[in-house]
Amino acid sequence: MAVKEQWTYITEDQPKIALNHFVSTEHLSTSTVEALIKRTLQIKNMPTADYPKISGSWVSNLFLEPSTRTHLSFQVAERHLGMEVLEFDPSTSSLKKGETMSDTVLTLQALGVETVVIRSGEDKYYEALIDNKDLTVSVVNGGDGSGQHPSQSLLDVTTIYEEFGYFKGLKIAISGDLSHSRVAHSNAELLWRLGAELYFCGPEAWYEESYDKYGTFVELDDVLEELDVLMLLRVQHERHDDPNAELLKETYHYRHGLTEDRERRMADQAIIMHPAPVNRDVEIADSLVTCERSRIYRQMQNGMFARMAILEAIQNGRGLKENVYALSEKY
Ligand code: CP
Repeated sequence: MAVKEQWTYITEDQPKIALNHFVSTEHLSTSTVEALIKRTLQIKNMPTADYPKISGSWVSNLFLEPSTRTHLSFQVAERHLGMEVLEFDPSTSSLKKGETMSDTVLTLQALGVETVVIRSGEDKYYEALIDNKDLTVSVVNGGDGSGQHPSQSLLDVTTIYEEFGYFKGLKIAISGDLSHSRVAHSNAELLWRLGAELYFCGPEAWYEESYDKYGTFVELDDVLEELDVLMLLRVQHERHDDPNAELLKETYHYRHGLTEDRERRMADQAIIMHPAPVNRDVEIADSLVTCERSRIYRQMQNGMFARMAILEAIQNGRGLKENVYALSEKY
């Protein structure tokens, strides 16, 4: 990975997180993640009038795959920060004429854009961008294929930290469409690194060996009562070419989903998470989406604050560019 993919955490008395890019949880040190969680909660708990400002900095959001939460919460975060937001519509852009992603970003850079937030169906699309010596823009990954969803991970770990105040020893199950889930890929590595005890659940055909190093594949029913966090994943029908999708939908809920009966078996302190969008009555019973244990809408709210913290850290990195190179530490 290029030298640009580095970070620094300045000092305790001048606590600033500085990032060049934000593309994968695997590129962030644990102390940077902890600092980002704290900064996210700090921003959440400050009056709107006191939000940090990075006015005059241009940012463009390139969402090449559908998104509601990530796209809109980045937009709101950017506006709260006073940034100049250049929206990009891929359906009317020259991407349709075959222009590459790198040339598109180079064009935005020529127009003065400093940060691009990108969602793409292509795994690791960001590597070609951050390795391109002609590009000086900062790249924020809004989700790549089945690869990574690092801003979702930051909002998820923030939501867990806000609830429990620690990670070590928390029993967390990630359940569902594991092989297709960029949320599961980025969360598994990060939660394991933060000290959580991880279980993976769901159809065996959707499990992949890459999770073995982070936890244990089990039946949800075998660990349900012990869990602190049940993190459900969306069944990604669009990434399955399963002709029996309707049948799967009918059987999934009772075999692997969170039914009302299963919810009643969960421990008192246990919470339910889901990155959304939710397939109601598939991963989770319709009646449980907003139940007392559910943190699904809190996750979305925390997403806006997490994205403010990320963009602020990127701006710090750009402002301190020379120092970032001098002080940075490779994870
Ligand atoms: N959780 C999430 O990434 O949702 P969107 O696809 O709506 O952005």
